[in-house]
Amino acid sequence: MDAVKFLEEDHLATQTAMEQIALSQPTHRKELFKALRRGVEVHDTVEKNILYPWMLSNPKTAALAHWNVQSHLLVDKAMDRLEALPVEDKGWTVAFNELRVHLLKHAQNEDVSVFKKITELSTGEERNTIGHKMTTERERLLKSY
Ligand SMILES: [Fe+2]
Ligand SMILES: [Fe+2]
Repeated sequence: MDAVKFLEEDHLATQTAMEQIALSQPTHRKELFKALRRGVEVHDTVEKNILYPWMLSNPKTAALAHWNVQSHLLVDKAMDRLEALPVEDKGWTVAFNELRVHLLKHAQNEDVSVFKKITELSTGEERNTIGHKMTTERERLLKSY
């Protein structure tokens, strides 16, 4: 599978999961958030282990990879804040909306800047090779969850 398509599909799935959480009853939030976090962590680790090393190997995309590391940290912190709150807490929705903003901003930035750049600078064959590595890495990570 094309690496960019692989990651874009994950972004869409994350967006859907967030919409589901926003509409859910407090009793379902914990479980849904756990699934969202797992999906995002696996996705981010695939990017960290496969996408970034590939980007860092090309001077034209190296700076974008550095930016993304910082952006992942912001998402992680927002996840931690939300996880620490009981689902019935009045601040839960506020913390969830903050996480949502960080995640959307990050995903949009990757879609618009990073993935576009990668598509310009690589061949379909290269992206398929990387996409294959991503699929294998995701399977490996899911086993450890
Ligand atoms: Fe990312
Ligand atoms: Fe991503």
